[in-house]
Amino acid sequence: MAMPIIAPFPATRLRRMRRTPALRAMVSEVDFTAANLIWPIFVTEVAGAEGEIPSMPGVDRLTLDGARRAAERAASLGIPAICVFPHSDPDLKDESCARAWDPENISNRAIRAIKETVPDLAVMTDIALDPYNINGHDGFVVDGQILNDETVEALVKMGLAQAEAGADILGPSDMMDGRIGALRTAMEAAGHQHVAILSYAAKFASAFYGPFRDAVGASGRLVGDKKTYQVNPANREEAIRCVARDLAEGADMVMVKPGMPYLDICREVKDQFGVPTFAYQVSGEYAMIEGAIRNGWLSRDAMAESLLAFRRAGCDGVLSYFAPQMAEMLA
Ligand code: PBG
Repeated sequence: MAMPIIAPFPATRLRRMRRTPALRAMVSEVDFTAANLIWPIFVTEVAGAEGEIPSMPGVDRLTLDGARRAAERAASLGIPAICVFPHSDPDLKDESCARAWDPENISNRAIRAIKETVPDLAVMTDIALDPYNINGHDGFVVDGQILNDETVEALVKMGLAQAEAGADILGPSDMMDGRIGALRTAMEAAGHQHVAILSYAAKFASAFYGPFRDAVGASGRLVGDKKTYQVNPANREEAIRCVARDLAEGADMVMVKPGMPYLDICREVKDQFGVPTFAYQVSGEYAMIEGAIRNGWLSRDAMAESLLAFRRAGCDGVLSYFAPQMAEMLA
């Protein structure tokens, strides 16, 4: 940023350009449109599990039909992409996680249903084993250790099944080492050259994921924590290395997650790499803001302000559970 030249008061009165809405609009530095949104949805295969997620008021687990309707709603609101997360049958979770790459799992069925209903909507996926793992981890667990390379092989099978189902964008959220390169190589070899990768590159070991784990049914199961694979919230330099590494392995776009507590990382990623940069305003951030709004402690404007902050921090877009509400407000 160039050093600003500021004439001393009263030549400079910054309030001059704040005086009216028209003047303020003229000097607005960033804006937020529906095109900046990716909408994460939860799709369940469990009869009776649809409906509101208690720790995420206003967010429902959807049936396949619900996912179709969400896709139509996204398209009508100008939201370019939806991201599918599975709520899978708890009785079918096991240590092998084999359902993660089953073409008929709820995630792949939802991808096909959405592409059938609204072919032009971009569909993003989640690649990680946790929704299918009996112990709630993103990778295979053996003797209390999260296996890296064996997990990457499974993630590749998972990504291939999602690409076959019609996914436009793969979203590896697992934080194993080497998964971006392995996924890219496999996609090229299998004729999925056009399938993009939005890497969860700088994903921190965060307490803000709690409501999401409720939503996908992983909360009661998680043994221990994810600190051996997700980044320490204290580590800025390591986060930048993660992004550099994923870009070198072929990521098309990168993500910082969570969002609001990590806006410094967003700005640094955008400035250093100049690549498509996204933030994930995660479940806990949504719960805080929506909960406070519902209690009357914050006004609804807090939602729009929280999203605009990502644009100011350099992000091209945001994954947010506010996506439909925000797009409706903009419309
Ligand atoms: C796990 C995954 C998580 C989220 C997306 N994918 C949680 C975790 O790492 O435990 C969190 C999203 C949110 O909190 O909204 N693969």
